[in-house]
Amino acid sequence: LRIAVLVSGSGTNLQALIDRARDGRLAAEIVVVASDRPGIRGLARAEAAGIPARVVDYRGFLKQDWTVLERKLPVDVDAVDRAQNILHHEDREERLKRLVRLMSAEAEMIAAIEAYRPDYVCLAGFMRLVTPFFLHHFNRAGKLRVINIHPALLPAFPGQHGYEDTFSYGCRWGGITIHFVDEGEDSGPIIAQAVYPILPEDDVEKVRQRGLQLEYEMYAQVINWLAAGRVELVPAAGGRARTVI
Ligand code: GRF
Repeated sequence: LRIAVLVSGSGTNLQALIDRARDGRLAAEIVVVASDRPGIRGLARAEAAGIPARVVDYRGFLKQDWTVLERKLPVDVDAVDRAQNILHHEDREERLKRLVRLMSAEAEMIAAIEAYRPDYVCLAGFMRLVTPFFLHHFNRAGKLRVINIHPALLPAFPGQHGYEDTFSYGCRWGGITIHFVDEGEDSGPIIAQAVYPILPEDDVEKVRQRGLQLEYEMYAQVINWLAAGRVELVPAAGGRARTVI
C-alpha cells in the first residue's frame, strides 16, 4: 500500500508510522509527506527518513489576487460551496474568497502528492479543513481514500483541542478515533477507536501522552487493515455509512 501523510506540526504520529514502516510492522510505504506550512518538525522527520517532503504554503495563497486564482481553478467554486457551506457565518463574498484560496492551495497539494500515486492520504495533525474538491479528487471509484486521526472519542469533542476538551469536561475515559474524512468537521465514518482511563491525579499533559501512545498504535493498525482490504463501508441509519472490519 502506498500512503501520503499530511502534517502541520510536530509529526509524532508520522514518526510512529516511519518507525513501524522501517521495522516491518506497517504494511505500507510512506511515499510522500506533505505540509501546509514550511519549517515544521514533521518535514524534518520525513527528510531524516529519506522520504520526499513537500510544502504547499497555504498562507501564501492569502496574498494572491483571488479573482486570478478563481479563473485557474479546475472546478466551479459555487458548487463546492453549496456542498460544504464553509464559513456560513460570513458574507458570501468573504466566503467565496476564502474558499477560492483554500481550493487553490489544495490544487497544488493534490498535484504535489498525486505525483507519488498514493492509495490513501493519511492526515496526521494536518490542521486544515479539506474541501469537497480535495475529497472528490481522492474518493474516486466509490472508495474513500482520505483518513484522519482525531484525539478524542468522536462524536464527542470534534475540533482542534480533543485532549484539552476531554480533560476539562471531567471525563473518566478519553479516547482516540481514526475515521474516513467526509465534508463535515471530524464527522466521517469511524474505522477504529480506542479508550484510556483518566485518573484523579492526571493533568492534561498526562492525558495527552496516554492518548498519543494509543494514536501511534492504532493508526498503524488501521493502515494495515486497509492494506489487507479489511475495511468495508456499509450503509447505516440516516443515510450515513459505517465501516465493518
Ligand atoms: C494528534 O493528537 C492528532 O490526533 C491530532 O493532532 C495531533 C498531531 O500530533 N489531529 P503530531 O503532529 O502527530 O505529533
